[in-house]
Amino acid sequence: MARKKLLFGNWKMNKTIAESREFAKASKELLAFADAKGVDIGVAPVYLSLSAVKEENPKLNVAAENCHFEDHGAFTGEIAIPMLKEIGIDWVIIGHSERRTYFGETDETCNKKLLALEKAGMTPIFCVGETLEEYEAGRTKEVVKRQTLKGLEGLGKQFVNDMVIAYEPVWSIGTGKNASKEIAQDICSFIRELVREQYGDAAENVRILYGGSVKPENVHDYLLQEDVDGALVGGASLKVDSFKALIENI
Ligand code: 13P
Repeated sequence: MARKKLLFGNWKMNKTIAESREFAKASKELLAFADAKGVDIGVAPVYLSLSAVKEENPKLNVAAENCHFEDHGAFTGEIAIPMLKEIGIDWVIIGHSERRTYFGETDETCNKKLLALEKAGMTPIFCVGETLEEYEAGRTKEVVKRQTLKGLEGLGKQFVNDMVIAYEPVWSIGTGKNASKEIAQDICSFIRELVREQYGDAAENVRILYGGSVKPENVHDYLLQEDVDGALVGGASLKVDSFKALIENI
């Protein structure tokens, strides 16, 4: 069975509630357009805007950008998975490089969060990717392997089958310096093999995205690659027109 392509917008720390609501209203048309093209789409707004986006377009896939692995407790400033479920959120981005770099996210905390999401029946978009220093030292595969295997440790096959993994080389995020389509294919296929070694045929269904300076002009090249099942998009996902152009150009 062919894997359905997925375009997910990571809005990061952008858009007020009002701005998110405005996008969500317009996203009804985007969703119809994506359906016609046979593509899944979704967005990840800040916590504060999750309810507003869901309210305006309940059919849109909406992800939180992070979560805590405990259900409740003394963790000032954190958000728990049951709180996300309560407002109808069933996707969460885990281990984005900005969280790893600026907020102390580690392979261990990613793993705890993934295990908690499995228990809660949610879908993760689990991010892996090497820094510029690691890339230049030729350590990409070593780093991606460690992040992937440690992140997936102890997860069940069905959960892995249904999850999304995003390969985002840190040096290509927000820099306009894309990884080539060959690099994207090579690493996405490498990740799929790692999944195959641990989880057998779940590797056929797990969706693996590329992320990093994906734009309407280059999205087609990435998505043509056999093991690239879609894109996790930052900047180019913020405007409705640009999101529409991404879908159009797939
Ligand atoms: P850009 O598309 O802005 O490079 O961001 C990529 C990203 O980090 C998506 O999670």
